[in-house]
Amino acid sequence: MFEHLQPTKMDPILSLMAAYRADPREQKIDLGVGVYMDDRGHTPVMRAVKEAEARLMELEDTKSYQGIAGDPQYNEHILALLFGAQHSILKSGRVRTIQAPGGSGALRVGAELIGRAKPNAKVWVGIPTWPNHIPLISGAGLKIQEYPYYDLVARKINVEAMMETLRGVPSGDIVLLHGCCHNPTGADLTEEQWDQIADLALERGFIPYIDTAYQGLGEGLEVDAYGVRSMAMKLPEMIIASSCSKNFGLYRERTGSITFLSATPAQADIVASQAMSVARQMYSMPPAHGALLVAMILGDQQLRAQWSQELDEVRDRINAMRQLLTERIQQNDAGMDFSHIQQQRGMFSFLGIASQQIERLRDEYGIYIVSSTRVNLAGINSGNIDYLAASMHAVLG
Ligand code: LMR
Repeated sequence: MFEHLQPTKMDPILSLMAAYRADPREQKIDLGVGVYMDDRGHTPVMRAVKEAEARLMELEDTKSYQGIAGDPQYNEHILALLFGAQHSILKSGRVRTIQAPGGSGALRVGAELIGRAKPNAKVWVGIPTWPNHIPLISGAGLKIQEYPYYDLVARKINVEAMMETLRGVPSGDIVLLHGCCHNPTGADLTEEQWDQIADLALERGFIPYIDTAYQGLGEGLEVDAYGVRSMAMKLPEMIIASSCSKNFGLYRERTGSITFLSATPAQADIVASQAMSVARQMYSMPPAHGALLVAMILGDQQLRAQWSQELDEVRDRINAMRQLLTERIQQNDAGMDFSHIQQQRGMFSFLGIASQQIERLRDEYGIYIVSSTRVNLAGINSGNIDYLAASMHAVLG
């Protein structure tokens, strides 16, 4: 049977990661895949995570199955992180979360659940979006529709076009939104725009599906959750896929969760049972290690304080690199304006240069940037900024 298969195209981000690793040049720079790197270009294990791992090694006395929903304490902590411990929604009985294998696993559980609840619902995806959103969601059998999000020429969110399209979304359809640190553009909705979309969702009857994989990397844990929290105050139903890959640096541990807000507690129970049935069919149970670490960190005052400080350091370093890159390339022979980079948030920004320039940076200079022109600002450091800026000026000029 395998003779009927044709090779398939690899995901653009993961294939870039493989190409970077295979590049023998010493002076190469990885601005591709979204992982945090320190000033040495290394992706560290957070100190709070290391400490939690040491404690877990001592305390863990079984590797028996955990259950389809994963670790209950982790799930409680994730709800508090997403909504804030005092949010009224947590006392309403309308919200349920289950642990999932990373943000991608969470997104797929959510998509499968939408397929069970409303097989004909369409999922509206802002353009551009994370390249895996569309295959992940359409792989669950759902139809995709697009709404305009980012204006490549004006280098900002195209609010008018986005709102106009969203005004036409039929009742019962799903609208995918990025909770914060928009991937790939770094252009986030303002609080006012979140409120407008929430009002529109109520009026039109569409259901927000929020992907929030970078909470804490934009403005901070609380501010970054504004969209999730304000929508939860207003709307009867919503889905949130979240991840601890970036804010806990647990990428390879596949630590995510999927959260459902239902109109009533009774419906919430049914949704949770359906989500667990989806999980059981796909992977049975999520991996335990990362979630146990997160639960331990968030449940321990000292570890939590340490983690929160490290997260601040991550965010501050990324913002410093934003500033540095802008300063170093703003004056250029092509007269291109890069000031938008400073306004954006999270790990990424769109450079907005031509695809030939992206290719030249990779082929001639060993600088790896996703073809959409998305740069991971955490890949910049004091050791590579001069080379990066000189290479950028060479291809821009
Ligand atoms: C990214 O956007 O680079 C990350 O979320 C990694 C991935 O899986 O694509």
